[in-house]
Amino acid sequence: MSIPGFKGETSVYQNHYYYEQNRVFRTFVPNEIKIKCTCSGAQNRTNKLYFEHPEIILPILESRKEKALRDVEGLCRLFAKFGVPREAKILDLSCGIGRHSVPLSQAGYQVVGYDLSPLFLERAKELAKQKDGGSKLNKIRFYQGDSRHAARVLFGKGETAFDVIISMSASIGYFGEEEDLRMFKELLSLVSPKCMLVIETDNRDQLFRTFNPSEYYTMIFAGNEFEVHRIFRLNIENSFMEEEWKLYKKMQDNRMKLMYSLPTTLRVYSLHELKKIIETAGWSYREAYSILDTLKSFTFKSDGMILIAQRPF
Ligand SMILES: C[S@@+](CC[C@H](N)C(=O)[O-])C[C@H]1O[C@@H](n2cnc3c(N)ncnc32)[C@H](O)[C@@H]1O
Repeated sequence: MSIPGFKGETSVYQNHYYYEQNRVFRTFVPNEIKIKCTCSGAQNRTNKLYFEHPEIILPILESRKEKALRDVEGLCRLFAKFGVPREAKILDLSCGIGRHSVPLSQAGYQVVGYDLSPLFLERAKELAKQKDGGSKLNKIRFYQGDSRHAARVLFGKGETAFDVIISMSASIGYFGEEEDLRMFKELLSLVSPKCMLVIETDNRDQLFRTFNPSEYYTMIFAGNEFEVHRIFRLNIENSFMEEEWKLYKKMQDNRMKLMYSLPTTLRVYSLHELKKIIETAGWSYREAYSILDTLKSFTFKSDGMILIAQRPF
């Protein structure tokens, strides 16, 4: 996959890049030699990827901005179905670059975005500024933090009484079932009666059936050409997707130099598993869809899974 026109040239990014250059540009590593990341544990892996090196994922999120507009149309239809008013307060949990937060704000909702990655939040703020017609978007607010502590952090900022919480594009599962359960339980303390919860993630059943073990794309930043290689493994004993993100820089002699290699793990859920987590956390399960823009019903062959729940009333 090539993403033309992508340029990650914000000052935030450049500073970050040169810091990393000093640290890892020491030896040439041929393509076939794998660098072992010394970090251990899901916390380190997630921090490495999303806090220290979010640039590697940025082109993917940027390329999906158009799709997010269609997602938001679907979300608005769902909100109407569940009686969510237009001025409702929405938490976009793990909001990334704000590709859903900003159009939701444009649609008139009060939006709060929360994410671990300072770079993504910087992009989200830029997007909000670009789209700001001077009125509605002023309501949008972004906060940096770990989603596992979102309830405490947002409460401390006076951000409570959410009417909707959305978690889009596989933003859960990094820390496994117990942590997801704890997080969804704690989030109940932040919400208004009848609050709606929308979780969009991968459907484990279909992912295992149609598994593709690698993916590749190119990107340009700071005037340099890079290749990103993603290598996936599915652990059938615990339903974790184990992934290696490798960033290669194209050198003047056309050789590809491995800059860094980052492992991540993600618990992927079947519908019944996520439903159980949500219900154990104290939410009431309502329904599931496969695609937001068409609101097609969920089947075991759906690539995506959109789970709808509500605070019990
Ligand atoms: C696949 S991206 C999706 C982003 C956004 N929801 C979207 O649809 O564009 C996953 C997001 O989860 C965020 N994330 C990962 N671990 C996190 C954590 N522990 N706390 C908060 N955000 C986290 C990442 O920074 C990233 O923005």
